[in-house]
Amino acid sequence: MDTRNGVFFSDEYQEYLKSQFSYADSDPEYGHRLFFENSGGSLRLKQAVEIKRELEEFPDCPERARGRGRDLGVFVTEGTREIMNIVFGTSQGALVTDLTASQAMFHAVSTILDNVKWGTNAVTTQLEHPSAHDAVEYACIRTGREFREIPANPKTGGIDVEEVLKHVDENTVLVSVMAASNISGNIMDIKEISRRVHEINPDIYVVSDAVQHAPHCVIDVEDWDVDVCNFAPYKFFGVRGCGFAYVSHRVANMFHAKLLFKAPDVWALGTPAPGNFAAMMAVIDYVCSIGRHFTPDKQGARELFVEGMNRIHMQERALLHRMLEGTKELPGLRHIPGVHVYTDIEDLTKKDLIVAMSIDGIGLVELAEEYMNHGVTVFERLSSSQYSERIVGTLGIKDGAIRVSPLHCHGKKDIDEYLRITRSIARAAGNTQKNAEG
Ligand SMILES: Cc1ncc(COP(=O)(O)O)c(C=O)c1O
Repeated sequence: MDTRNGVFFSDEYQEYLKSQFSYADSDPEYGHRLFFENSGGSLRLKQAVEIKRELEEFPDCPERARGRGRDLGVFVTEGTREIMNIVFGTSQGALVTDLTASQAMFHAVSTILDNVKWGTNAVTTQLEHPSAHDAVEYACIRTGREFREIPANPKTGGIDVEEVLKHVDENTVLVSVMAASNISGNIMDIKEISRRVHEINPDIYVVSDAVQHAPHCVIDVEDWDVDVCNFAPYKFFGVRGCGFAYVSHRVANMFHAKLLFKAPDVWALGTPAPGNFAAMMAVIDYVCSIGRHFTPDKQGARELFVEGMNRIHMQERALLHRMLEGTKELPGLRHIPGVHVYTDIEDLTKKDLIVAMSIDGIGLVELAEEYMNHGVTVFERLSSSQYSERIVGTLGIKDGAIRVSPLHCHGKKDIDEYLRITRSIARAAGNTQKNAEG
């Protein structure tokens, strides 16, 4: 089967999946809407929210050996195992838990640069979210190392492997490259980056921020050969209030903040919230149920999860293709006069479902507001914002862009509604076919 432009779920199955998310088509106060801001926090699985709420009602300590406390503790131990084995794809290393994915990233990167006694520099990219970017810069300042930044390729919106290699030498301690961009949606070839970086020095620590990639595609820390990788459950159909990071065996055993009587590779500190783990287990169950729907013969949970994520990825690629190309009746973003899609590439196999766009004749803040007036929630990534300035700069996008980020549970009808609204906003802003061609 040709999957270059994705493969849609059946409409019935897509509707069924959507029914498992809260407020998928409407906000209780603001009414009908298209929630196309999943990169800022994804639609919530009802099951994840419900189990967190249920468990929060129990006062019992999850570290007890009997009764309800023991039952709550099982969510922590099982949840940790599932996140490591099923989401990250490994039985090695340790899980770092924090209130946010950013904290987990800072914690892991600082630990590496504090512990390693060799090396004079560390490298990251200009495309990173401030959390991964500043984690490296901060640790360089702390440990007196040179901080190096790799520019993005403004044509593809990605990070070229050759560009990475120009910044790495045998004195590089750590290289941090995000798995996918939170603005352009481009997927990086982390496996190849890691392989080539390790040819320069096999001891280099490779880090990948997978916060924006996790809800769209499979993470495989062993296959990628990385030492650190993180994700945020609230961007992955789950709940706010926690961030998770994998650290490899060699990082897990480094000197780090922990209770001193615990084993060297224990990173958990204090009493964890069972509800956060249970919510993530609900997300894992949901993804596995998609895998099982398509391949009822598969057995292992990781296998089912990988199948589920691959199916999600195919549905999202098909949605992306429709958004860009449209249909016979309805032009896609690439064909609506006055619309610009940034870092647009033909090869959609290198993209997650995140689009950066703008419309001639209307400012970005005004455009985001105009979308909201039409019932579409999107977000403006402005060059004047300190969160976006460096990133849109390296992508060669002058003022910034509107980020449009639907989710796999959206369907063709949702994309078409968005395209119709976009066409009407573009027309109202004075963009006609004649204008666009002239
Ligand atoms: C790529 C990427 N990394 C890290 C983060 C930080 O996540 P958090 O704010 O949950 O720590 C974000 C948040 O938008 C992100 O998009």
